This record gives sequence, structure tokens and C-alpha cells, in this order.
Amino acid sequence: MSVKTIVAGNWKMHKTAADTAAFLDAFLPKTGSLPESIEIVVAPPFVSIPTASVRLRDTRVHLGAQTMHWELEGAFTGEISAPMLREFGVSHVIVGHSERRAYCNETDRTVHLKVRTALEQGLTPIVAVGETLEERNAGETDRRVIEQTRAALDGVRADQLFRLVIAYEPIWAIGTGRNCDPHEADRVMATIRGCRDGLGDTPILYGGSMTADNVAAYMQQRNVNGGLVGGASLDPDGFAALIANAVSS
Ligand code: 13P
Repeated sequence: MSVKTIVAGNWKMHKTAADTAAFLDAFLPKTGSLPESIEIVVAPPFVSIPTASVRLRDTRVHLGAQTMHWELEGAFTGEISAPMLREFGVSHVIVGHSERRAYCNETDRTVHLKVRTALEQGLTPIVAVGETLEERNAGETDRRVIEQTRAALDGVRADQLFRLVIAYEPIWAIGTGRNCDPHEADRVMATIRGCRDGLGDTPILYGGSMTADNVAAYMQQRNVNGGLVGGASLDPDGFAALIANAVSS
């Protein structure tokens, strides 16, 4: 079995519902000519999900969320649960993005709880791991990503591993225009793949200043199965160009 190729757009706190509709109206007609082998995901802000949900029905583009709570319901003001997402056809959820780890108290423990809930609820978690610049400079990259990956996947059964996605996002490469060297990204991704049994068929995505111009260099690497794209996913033409260039060689 070959590992699935996925390109996911993480829109972060960009695009109102109206912006989302405009993006999809421009983007969807382009998807017919994009490589069929690539699974395409867009993850808008929560309040734009209903609009995206209507537009994406009966299309090849999957709907993602940027986070969720690990409980199914309860007194968690401001939070959103897996059943609420599923009601709108959400199939993927980003878990443990570094911005949520840095600004919203996401920890290895909460990432783990969210991964478990997502899998139990039939959502595909996209688990983000990555090191800070300080950790990289201190030679701590491998230790950090192994620690994050093992914590996130603790207790996840071997038969569930192919249903999740891991994204290696070096924090210093996010939104900086300073993308990680593709060979070095591949090396770290091989470390991630090897840090637990059963990750051979788990898609591992690269994230961090990925563009239509550099995506091919990543896709040529053995351990790269696609991208988690921020800034370059916000423009319909640019995102379509990136996906077109992401065919594995
Ligand atoms: P950029 O592509 O803007 O660097 O963001 C990457 C990212 O954080 C995707 O989750």
C-alpha cells in the first residue's frame, strides 16, 4: 500500500464566511484538473465551516477544522466538539498546532486527548509537531519531535495509526519565508516515522513556508507525503498551483 498524499490548507484566523465562499467559488472549478491522487483539505475558521460545508458537498475537497475540544460536550465556554464538527461534514482536524501550543495552552497531554477523541469520533487528526529555533540550535530537534509524537499517539492502537496524519512543522519555518531544507525535513520526518512502530503507512506532511515553488523539492523526499500549508493556501490560484506541483516524482 502506498502512503496517501495530502495537501491541507490551514487558513488560521483568515477569511470570513463571505471570503470563504469567494475562495471556494474560485478554487473548486480548478480542482478538476488537479492530480486525483492528492487528497485536498481546507481548514477554515469555525464560523466559516457552515459556508464551506455547503460549497464542498459532493466535491473532492475535504473539510478540516483547526482544533477541537476532547470532550464531546460540557461546560467548556468557547469550545467546539467533534460531534459539532461532524454535523457539518468535517473530516479532518488539526491538533497541536504550534500556535495553539504557544498561545492557547495546548500541551502534549491535551494533544493526546484530542487525538484519541478525534479517532473515536471518526475524524482524521492532523497532529502537528515541531521544534523551536532554540531547540534546533541546541541540537534538541529529534528529542522534541519524538517526545511530541509519542505523547500524542500514546495508547493509539496500531490499527488506528493509518487513520491519522502527522505534520512536521518546524516552528521557525512557519510564516517566515525561511523553509526548512527539504533533505533536513526528510531526515526529521524519518525520525518521526521511526519513533513508534506502525507509522509506515501514516502520511507525514511538511509545514512551514511551503509554496508552489518549493513543494516539488519536498515531494521528492522519501518521507514527505504532502504539506500543511498556511499563507500559500489563502489564494485560490496559488493554492491550486501548489497542489498541481505536489505530484510525487
Ligand atoms: P505557513 O505556510 O504560512 O508558513 O504556515 C504553516 C503552518 O503553520 C500550517 O499549519
